[in-house]
Amino acid sequence: MPRRILIIDGHPDSRAERFVHALSKAYCEGARSAGHEVRSLMVSELEFPMLRTSEEFQAGSAPEIIHKSQEAVAWADHVVIVFPLWLGSMPALLKGFFEQLLRPGFAFAAAEHNRLPKKLLAGKSARLIVSMGMPALFYRWYFRAHSLKSLQRNILGFCGIRPVRTSIVGMVEAAGMEKRGAWLARVQELGRRGR
Ligand SMILES: Cc1cc2nc3c(=O)[nH]c(=O)nc-3n(C[C@H](O)[C@H](O)[C@H](O)COP(=O)(O)O)c2cc1C
Repeated sequence: MPRRILIIDGHPDSRAERFVHALSKAYCEGARSAGHEVRSLMVSELEFPMLRTSEEFQAGSAPEIIHKSQEAVAWADHVVIVFPLWLGSMPALLKGFFEQLLRPGFAFAAAEHNRLPKKLLAGKSARLIVSMGMPALFYRWYFRAHSLKSLQRNILGFCGIRPVRTSIVGMVEAAGMEKRGAWLARVQELGRRGR
């Protein structure tokens, strides 16, 4: 069944030579070729301030560009987030984007009377595609993929997005054309399947 897919490209560097952009493009091409509807957001091209206070998070009005990004998330039934691992986690710019985006009233409703917060993005699924310098197995088994789990459970799960599937593209700097090509083909296939 055709899906509405939003690709969030979370690389802070917008230059075309970054491999994360090639992965985002491969997913997009695969998805479109199979009849899925696709929209994309390049976080590097969005102008927004860092969130600094709890008051702003709870009750402030989000910048216009964040409203537009929220509309894109609301529209999608599958969200694909592609980013490089920086210092063991997502780049600060992408985290800053999520802090602006996933506000109460949009992503979750604040808890009332000892109840758990309501998950306002329930019904959507996600795929995380993360590239890194270390081998994927090392990240998964030695570091226990902690930052991916945090994004999966603490951030997206908290808003009701599930399942959140993951693809780890390891040793990306050392990879030659052949390995990179194989990854692009795999990601294109994920796009085709809308997963
Ligand atoms: C600031 C910075 C921090 C990085 N931290 C890590 C890290 O903690 N672990 C790791 O395996 N790779 C790390 N890397 C390597 C990047 O993950 C890798 O260069 C990137 O995934 C390649 O994708 P790109 O071509 O799209 O930039 C880091 C790179 C930069 C620039």
